[in-house]
Amino acid sequence: MKINLTIATQSKIHVEFITPENLKKHKLYKKLYNNGFDATEGSLTLLDDKRLLACGSQTLKSDDIRVATVTAIKKLKTTNFKSCSFPVTKATLQGVVEGIILGGYEFNDYKSKKTKTKLKKIDLVCDDVATLQKDFEQSVIIAEATAFTRDIVNTAPQELNPKTFAKLATKLATENNLECNILGPKKLKKEKCNAMLAVGRASIHPSQLIHLAYKPKNAKKVITLVGKGLTYDSGGLSLKPATSMVTMKMDKAGASAVLGMIKAVSELKLDIEVHAFIGAVENMIGGNAYKPDDILKTRNGKTVEVRNTDAEGRLVLADVLDYAQDKVPNTDYLFDFATLTGACMVALGQYTTGVMGHSKKVKHHFYKASKNSGELIGSLPFNKHLSKLLKSEIADLSNVASKPYGGAITAGLFLDNFIKEQNKQKWLHFDIAGSAYTEAPWDCNVYGATGAGVRLMSQFFKEIAK
Ligand code: BES
Ligand code: ZN
Ligand code: ZN
Repeated sequence: MKINLTIATQSKIHVEFITPENLKKHKLYKKLYNNGFDATEGSLTLLDDKRLLACGSQTLKSDDIRVATVTAIKKLKTTNFKSCSFPVTKATLQGVVEGIILGGYEFNDYKSKKTKTKLKKIDLVCDDVATLQKDFEQSVIIAEATAFTRDIVNTAPQELNPKTFAKLATKLATENNLECNILGPKKLKKEKCNAMLAVGRASIHPSQLIHLAYKPKNAKKVITLVGKGLTYDSGGLSLKPATSMVTMKMDKAGASAVLGMIKAVSELKLDIEVHAFIGAVENMIGGNAYKPDDILKTRNGKTVEVRNTDAEGRLVLADVLDYAQDKVPNTDYLFDFATLTGACMVALGQYTTGVMGHSKKVKHHFYKASKNSGELIGSLPFNKHLSKLLKSEIADLSNVASKPYGGAITAGLFLDNFIKEQNKQKWLHFDIAGSAYTEAPWDCNVYGATGAGVRLMSQFFKEIAK
């Protein structure tokens, strides 16, 4: 599907957004009314000899327009029209682009019968192309990077394992001119990434640490990203119940998001240096599996008592975070993305990413980025009492808290043990366990991966590159 920004269109059908407030003043009000159209979210009607698709929107703000666009594009894809047009302004452009690309997103790789649409061309009609061109191009890059992340997460685990993840990263590095370094088990052993290696030991697919870097000449800031890349999380010997295991291919969503983020920043050509580190590992069972009661010596020297092999993401991140901080000692920010805890969903609901860290200032920056990105975030506060729940009688730390409440926060506090003193104020942890995957459509998300994190971080990139 080709999307153009233009002042005039030849297409035969035009979308018009109508709010409940504007409905009565509309020149076609009577016809709209007779069709039962009330301009609420999700309402839709064809008028004017099928040349006008009236589309209800709560307001004309970007967030509502994005949702209205999703309704329109889903409908248009089922019609015989080859092209269509949407009106755009500076305020609604991003919402319309995201609605089209992300609301119209489909993952058909495993269907023998692909859904076919006749719709090939979409004109976004505005008053002045020159003033909106840059916003338009940026919105397309970010939405496509989000779809790229969705594709990776949606790929089945028999196809996407740590090695194929590394291949995919190498391909992106070649296409987008990024530096790329990959560490297999031998090098990981040399690097003393023992916790990461323990988690992946029972898998037939060797664990991989992937490092990509985008280094423009005049970088104003340096950002380090770390992603949890569990290509499958069976729970290990602390095996997940059958129904909880389904969807655990999505445990690589943090790593996939980080890949989408570096794709976006390199295509936006922003003047910020970005490093992406991924721990790609498969958590399986077998005679060789790591066990509850094992004591692991992590890369930074701290020992961890394993009390639950299903709390594996934090073990992988412990080593990758430590490695990343050594490789990028001059970083201005350090962010990790992970589908880390079911508890995050209990705390915030399925739609909101949990944000944790010590710096109020950096969190504040993200509240703003969140508002402008269309992604929801909520802060989960650390405290010293929860921190104490990670004490172990036999090692420096336990990999699970001794009490069941506040599980998203205790997981964040576990990671805090692997953040160097000089980076404490630069670090935020994003728990995307709820927001990364959905089995029912919401906002511009369809069944499967959402690409959570990519729009949020891209917005942050744009704001700090200003
Ligand atoms: N990958 C899971 C977290 C998860 C759960 C993500 C549901 C998405 C949906 C993680 O590795 C895990 O299993 N966490 C445990 C931690 C517990 C053992 C302390 C959890 O959340 O139950
Ligand atoms: Zn787990
Ligand atoms: Zn996991």
